[in-house]
Amino acid sequence: MAETLTIRRPDDWHLHFRDGDMMRDVVPFTARQFARAIVMPNLTPPVTDSASAAAYRERILSAVPDGIDFMPLMTCYLTDDTDPDDLARGAAEGIFTAAKLYPANATTNSAFGVSDMARLDPVFARMESEDIVLCIHGEVTESHIDIFDREAEFIERHLRRIVRDFSKLRVVFEHITTSEAVDFVLECGPNVAATITPQHLHINRNAMLVGGIRPHAYCLPVAKREQHRLALRKAATSGSPKFFLGTDSAPHPRHAKESACGCAGIFNAPFALESYLAVFEEEDALEHFEGFASLNGPAFYKLPINKATVTLKREPHKVPDMLTAAGEDIVPFHAGETLDWKLVD
Ligand code: DOR
Ligand code: ZN
Repeated sequence: MAETLTIRRPDDWHLHFRDGDMMRDVVPFTARQFARAIVMPNLTPPVTDSASAAAYRERILSAVPDGIDFMPLMTCYLTDDTDPDDLARGAAEGIFTAAKLYPANATTNSAFGVSDMARLDPVFARMESEDIVLCIHGEVTESHIDIFDREAEFIERHLRRIVRDFSKLRVVFEHITTSEAVDFVLECGPNVAATITPQHLHINRNAMLVGGIRPHAYCLPVAKREQHRLALRKAATSGSPKFFLGTDSAPHPRHAKESACGCAGIFNAPFALESYLAVFEEEDALEHFEGFASLNGPAFYKLPINKATVTLKREPHKVPDMLTAAGEDIVPFHAGETLDWKLVD
């Protein structure tokens, strides 16, 4: 049995840092594990233009602890009124690495998202010609569609068309949660890939609903049936270059989750790498861990692979029941559980 594992330094291809005190306190958790992260723009107000993205990037950089090499990769929040010229300019200047499509009201701080997908066609066309990556939160939002069906429905209603009409556009189908999403990504060409979170590899919807309602297992897209979790584990650990690491770590204060209307989001940043590694070990696929964590993402984004390495060692450790950020209690993913691997600092 392997006792240590050394891989190229990984990146997190989907992450929420927030802003202000919360950002200052959560950035170090990510920076100690990952060299780069695709930073989500769903602040209030959202990051919709290159000037605000550049300013946000500076605020993040000022929160990176001394001596740690970490680069935030910024995204542009697409709205019905996105200016393709500003987006293209921001990408050309190296401010935007990608643009993020939230269907309006799909999730936390998505009220300014896209209400009419067809209106964005000129933006998609420009992104295709400028080779800017499109990150998609793939869920329909119509109130009559069951929440467990919203991802599969998004594929049929929107994603197939976008991928067909903009056949060279690079698309990341983010935080996928269903076997339908796995199948769709596999059917598409190499310009379509997906990120997978640790929570969707570890838990199914029972974790949220059996024996009491568990708000810390609630995120969006919501965890699905066991058959979907198994399909995601198979995809992530298969060695396919189409699947890569994206934690979707999303800090919310404990009181905002333990509420009559609890927020969506799981804070998995503190032990993200160890959490993913547990899955690869359980699936007997340690040989594919580096690809998923450190190689497939850079290849898709056309960015260099990190030169530095990280080492994990077998050292069982208990995840704290609670952490503090911005003066608030936050319950991390795996709270109170023991993880078998530990990142060597
Ligand atoms: O669970 C989620 N939380 N899903 C998202 O898409 C957004 C995120 C957040 O910002 O809290
Ligand atoms: Zn997210």
